[in-house]
Amino acid sequence: ECQTGPEDAPISCRTLLAPDPLDPTMRRMNGSTTLLGELTPSWKGRLRRRILAWYARHARDLPWRHEPTPYRVWVSEIMLQQTQVATVRAYFSRFMAAFPTVHDLAAVEEEDVLRLWEGLGYYRRARQMHAAARLIVDRLGGHFPGDVQGLRQLPGIGRYTAGAIGSLAMGLREPILEANTLRLLCRLVGYREDPGKGAGQRLLWRTAEEILPRERVAPFNQALMELGSLVCTPAGPRCGECPVATLCMARSHALQDEIPLPKPKQTFTKLHEAAVVVRKNGLLLLRQCADGQRWAGLWDFPRFEIDARRAPRLHRELAEKVHAQTGIRIEPGERIETIRHGVTRYRITLDCYEARCLGGRLRRMATRSLRWVSPTQLGTLPLSATGRKLATLATGRSE
Ligand code: ADE
Repeated sequence: ECQTGPEDAPISCRTLLAPDPLDPTMRRMNGSTTLLGELTPSWKGRLRRRILAWYARHARDLPWRHEPTPYRVWVSEIMLQQTQVATVRAYFSRFMAAFPTVHDLAAVEEEDVLRLWEGLGYYRRARQMHAAARLIVDRLGGHFPGDVQGLRQLPGIGRYTAGAIGSLAMGLREPILEANTLRLLCRLVGYREDPGKGAGQRLLWRTAEEILPRERVAPFNQALMELGSLVCTPAGPRCGECPVATLCMARSHALQDEIPLPKPKQTFTKLHEAAVVVRKNGLLLLRQCADGQRWAGLWDFPRFEIDARRAPRLHRELAEKVHAQTGIRIEPGERIETIRHGVTRYRITLDCYEARCLGGRLRRMATRSLRWVSPTQLGTLPLSATGRKLATLATGRSE
């Protein structure tokens, strides 16, 4: 009975759940050759109606859902990648107040964008968005491309973001698949293999396309995300509150806690680093992180990995490394604080030291720069999260 999937990936019978004896629709869904061929018109019809009706009653009032222009949807979706709705709310409102249109965004410097992004993390998103805004203004007369192919040509816009802008802001009949909908669809169709792999992605994108209603695509797509984030949660999904619980393959097999397969466990690498607050006449030495480094485009104190843990070898190492990174000779002083933090796959112990400038000249660098800044200027520069924490400790003032 088992044949090939509609694209190129074979979808094995083991992938699919056995038919639910209690639900004739399920049996039909699962009874023929491929999963996607099995989403019957009646199942899809019920799914659409129930999801739209549920959304009309349960949608959260989120700022980007008002006036869903391509610009606003784009900014919100970029922020929502890797970041919680609760955090994004305030950032989104501040961002729109500062840069109300794509023209305003294109007109400012990258640093201004990063300053407003500070604390959201994954700064590449902001840099790519700024680059895309400039392309839209300089090459496209300030208009977003009118289809998903065009949107995907822009930096930082992948299949998901293009689908979101197209469906939520432009009235296009385009599917979306992000973390919330991926989990929801895996459970609805009972997909038991790794949804992150090629075969899983193809199947789930096809599913997202298949279930789209002919009209009201924008609220439908919003509803899928909302249901995923409020009801079909990663742990302990609230099936009792779910409008499509009776259509759900995972539920009918009591497998909602096993689906989707958990991601492989992240392994962490420990790093020991030092950051140095170098002072000269009330000014502090800062460096801008270069392209390809962590926090590219943001500012930070001189910072590097260290081997030695104790004076005097440690002091020699700090002096040598600050000199190599900046051209400035220092006399290291007291340890200010140890900050422990995580970035991507690293667990970092960051020892922060005071230092006095003994002389030397700021090294000239082709790409990024070094600067002596006053405590007041620190407030206007975008800093890495630990850079900001240390700036506050070192100047005894918060922003
Ligand atoms: N997560 C990603 N996009 C979202 C949206 N538009 N609404 C709610 N959660 C989301």
